[in-house]
Amino acid sequence: MITVDGLAVEFSGKTLFSDVSFFINENDKIALMGKNGAGKSTMMKIIAGAQKPTRGYVRAPKEAVIAYLPQHLLTEDHCTVFRRDTQGF
Ligand SMILES: Nc1ncnc2c1ncn2[C@@H]1O[C@H](COP(=O)(O)OP(=O)(O)O)[C@@H](O)[C@H]1O
Ligand SMILES: [Mg+2]
Repeated sequence: MITVDGLAVEFSGKTLFSDVSFFINENDKIALMGKNGAGKSTMMKIIAGAQKPTRGYVRAPKEAVIAYLPQHLLTEDHCTVFRRDTQGF
């Protein structure tokens, strides 16, 4: 359903990740794991179309709706998704 092919991200010539390819099929439930700064958020933003990769592409069907919920809300940077969800902030 969603195809990620040959994705690479470089910042000022420094490679964050490269040659990342995978498929996401309907009903898949996926956990993206990696150490702090590995590029998880960057990858999610690219899949959601909020950021462009240096190389590679993300392909999804026209009818697919891809949404990205930021870890920190844009209006309240101190407020995490967990806190907002559990405590109504
Ligand atoms: N626009 C940018 N310019 C330069 N470096 C960036 C930019 N965005 C993210 N980075 C760097 O890329 C790395 C990965 O960030 P991020 O995707 O937020 O990692 P994670 O979500 O896995 O913790 C971090 O070192 C971060 O500082
Ligand atoms: Mg992150």
